Amino acid sequence: MSAGPPTYSIRTFGCQMNEHDSERMAGMLEAGGYTRSQDPEDASVLVFNTCCIRENADSRLYGNLGHAKRIKDERPGMRIVVGGCLAQKDRHAIQRRAPWVDVVLGTHNLASLPRLLEESQRGAAFEILEQTEVFPSALPARRSSPWHAWVSISIGCNNACTFCIVPAVRGKEVSRRGHEIVEEVESLVADGVVEITLLGQNVNSYGRDLGGTPLFAELLRALDKVDGLERIRFTSPHPKDFRADTVAAMAECNSVCEHIHLPLQAGSDRVLKVMKRAYTRARYLDKARMVRAAIPGVAITTDIIVGFPGETEDDFDATLEVVREVRYDAAYTFQYSPRPGTVAAGLPGHLPKAVVQRRYDRLTELQEEISLEQNQATVGRTHEVLVEGPSKKDPSKLTGRTRTNKLVHFHGDEPDFSDGSLCDVAVDRAHPHFLEGHLARGGTRSRRVSLPVVGAARGCAPGA
Ligand code: SAH
Ligand code: SF4
Ligand code: F3S
Repeated sequence: MSAGPPTYSIRTFGCQMNEHDSERMAGMLEAGGYTRSQDPEDASVLVFNTCCIRENADSRLYGNLGHAKRIKDERPGMRIVVGGCLAQKDRHAIQRRAPWVDVVLGTHNLASLPRLLEESQRGAAFEILEQTEVFPSALPARRSSPWHAWVSISIGCNNACTFCIVPAVRGKEVSRRGHEIVEEVESLVADGVVEITLLGQNVNSYGRDLGGTPLFAELLRALDKVDGLERIRFTSPHPKDFRADTVAAMAECNSVCEHIHLPLQAGSDRVLKVMKRAYTRARYLDKARMVRAAIPGVAITTDIIVGFPGETEDDFDATLEVVREVRYDAAYTFQYSPRPGTVAAGLPGHLPKAVVQRRYDRLTELQEEISLEQNQATVGRTHEVLVEGPSKKDPSKLTGRTRTNKLVHFHGDEPDFSDGSLCDVAVDRAHPHFLEGHLARGGTRSRRVSLPVVGAARGCAPGA
């Protein structure tokens, strides 16, 4: 291995929780003297932060570990770390199938990474805990964006959706204290952050385990008061717990964006019941109407599973009906994937792949049409856009997002508009997944943000 400071590289799979956990692992490694490797193949420590929400994750991980072994064979000093949800679920399998892995840690002991790396110099260090007792907030983070930050408000999940592996790998819900969240956000804003996304498996049950401290709507109000914070997003609210108090807070708080991700999963009451989602189609539709009535121009997005065991054509039609009725701006659509150990995996009526694929294609076709129509409705209007940087497809353009979370590519000839700036963009053309526009003259707001590239949550030390 080359001389000089040790380096690391992290590959992240899965959801925003994992992205944020990777930022925390990066923060701990940098606090311990590691620097980020330019080329993952050269890193002294290679971390895989894994996901197991659907089936193909397993085979992908072992493929990646096989490749990592070949690198390690050439550079025996390097160390391989596997963390995250798949590690939590399959600790023994990893040990057995990839004995060249140096460290395995789960979702409940992220903070142990530096210690386990240290121990691995004397032999493989595997540690999986069953539950997080206190919220692990005191970890430094190496943010991947200078102007956006993920902020965890709770970990784990107390629901029991029958298709879902998350409660088994993320444990019981543990909420973070409200004042800690506000303090973190204040320090992030002082560090140049203008947009935050609050993270929890079910943000609407936030705080129930804390007894008396702010619940989600109050938390939104407290964060809205943080001076300099332009945008608050959150993911995900569970429809069963999404109530009028949260909608009122969304409507009242200027910095809370006009976007709600409300996972439907299925439109048939029969399927929703077997999924144990604890709402009916009618109640879900009431909530969608409530949010539309209170927040003009709100964007609604969702998650939908196709091909849940026993799903009939009529059940599937009910899902299409809800999609037509709510008119989602976008939907993440998934083919049902059995997860060993979940209730649904043991149900009768698993559907042939061809049936699921046909339904999936029909759903995505319908949703594409609706997404396009929803986006067309924005043409001719001006939207506030938070600039994310040059467009990947066409670097002569800038890319950003509206408050409704729509991606916009636009001509931005003003040198002042750098990443993290807010500006007004007039929308000229719509596509199902993005908009095109130009900088609106006269209405531009150049709140330029000048920032250090690396931001660590202040006042936080590993294990503190
Ligand atoms: N806590 C979030 C969901 C996290 S998982 C919530 O309740 O909204 C993200 C999405 O993955 C889910 O909304 C669901 O649509 C999908 N998903 C979860 N388990 C799945 C499975 N076994 N097969 C297919 N999709 C699944
Ligand atoms: Fe999974 Fe349901 Fe919890 Fe979401 S609410 S993480 S889908 S069990
Ligand atoms: Fe997220 Fe995948 Fe874990 S979706 S919570 S990283 S199983």
